[in-house]
Amino acid sequence: MENDTNGGNILEKIVVEGKTKLKGEVTISGAKNAAVAILPATILVNGICIIENVPEISDIKAYCKILESIGVKIRKIAKNTLEIDSRNINNIEASIDLTSKFRASYYLAGALLGRCGHAIIGMPGGCKLGARPMDQHIKAFELLGATVETEQGKIEVKADKLQGNSIYLDIVSVGATINTMLAAVLADGVTTIENAAKEPHIVDLANFLNKMGANIMGAGTDRIRIQGVPELKKNDTYSVVPDQIEAGTFMLAAVATRGDVIIRNCITKHLEPITAKIVEMGAEVEDLGGDAIRVKCTNRPNKINIKTLPYPGFPTDLQPPMGVAMSIADGTSVINESIWDSRFQYTEELNRMGAKITAQGKVAFFEGVDNLIGAPVYASDLRAGAALIIAGILAEGTTQIYNVEYIDRGYENIEEKFRNLGAKIERVEEKEEG
Ligand code: EPZ
Repeated sequence: MENDTNGGNILEKIVVEGKTKLKGEVTISGAKNAAVAILPATILVNGICIIENVPEISDIKAYCKILESIGVKIRKIAKNTLEIDSRNINNIEASIDLTSKFRASYYLAGALLGRCGHAIIGMPGGCKLGARPMDQHIKAFELLGATVETEQGKIEVKADKLQGNSIYLDIVSVGATINTMLAAVLADGVTTIENAAKEPHIVDLANFLNKMGANIMGAGTDRIRIQGVPELKKNDTYSVVPDQIEAGTFMLAAVATRGDVIIRNCITKHLEPITAKIVEMGAEVEDLGGDAIRVKCTNRPNKINIKTLPYPGFPTDLQPPMGVAMSIADGTSVINESIWDSRFQYTEELNRMGAKITAQGKVAFFEGVDNLIGAPVYASDLRAGAALIIAGILAEGTTQIYNVEYIDRGYENIEEKFRNLGAKIERVEEKEEG
């Protein structure tokens, strides 16, 4: 949001004219949740890394500012390619203002602890999905020999020397798994993480760190073994894995709009949990070999039930786009959300568009309707925003989506990508009244 010359607020909204069946090809960007782990991981490298396939999204811009606040030098050397020079880290306290607005900033704690033995960050913020504790991150840091203090909105982690240990995570947590890996890479001895998360971005981070000289085995299983090394090598290039959540968003958009979409630059293995459910909905999914998948849906989707789970279960981050497809499916579908306490806020917005969804705590019932009708709606988080765009594309009439800053956090060129598939979508500025 910005001020206009008369002092009023100007806000951006996305306006979608329905009702379009998406058709064509879309190329997927690098994974947000891998990139926000790899960028801070470069702190562990006392040298220069070139990171390719970095998505151009606001979370990455925010991360670059945070890294610059501790002395990292970052240069964009081509589209989606950053040169990151972490030789001169001169500050162990990252901007509290920036880190507290941004969830993935907690990776600075593990990375700075690993490199400098000391980190101070703001208590991380992020999308409002319900309680987001850090007890498992803290437990892991302490088991590696660090002291952790949390007060006045800050977290301070400190260690004279980190010593590898066996760490059992009480909950399967992406963030705690990554933070433990970051802290353990340069520690003395062996660290094992039991009950580790298995998401593709965990594997991608391990691949990056191993390429730089770390010794990590088992990423992608629930037991990760890290043999500490004295240092990581100085210079190398790494390309971020394609974003399976972005790919899944377009797969579900094809299903919900009864379209025919080829999704390029994706790893089809990562899409199996989504593929299985959309096939159950009656869509055709064709693996085109290499790095592409085609999703075609000619009939009204069938009702289905899903439960969100850690990878390789159905991802919580695709629950809202799946909810849109369910809202116009034939019959009543059920979603059990097992990761976040508050991920059904978008259902109220879909109900404004004529959906019939009843959400109770972590369960929601989607009684399929024939069609949605355009309305003004508000994104409550990143994935909710993407879901509302899909709803606008399939609805009759005009949908105006507010709070677009959430969407910009994680989707690169989202309007352009949907426009290339035939959607009538644009971003416009609006003067806020009052
Ligand atoms: C990551 O969040 C993703 N964010 C989220 O994506 C995603 O929804 C989530 O993993 C689950 O897949 C990033 O990668 C930056 P968790 P994270 O720790 O790491 C509980 C998106 O839209 N928990 O795996 O914060 C927690 O409350 C975003 O791209 C503890 O109890 O998630 C939750 O119920 C939103 N204690 C569950 O574990 C802890 O110490 C899983 O959280 C840590 C987590």
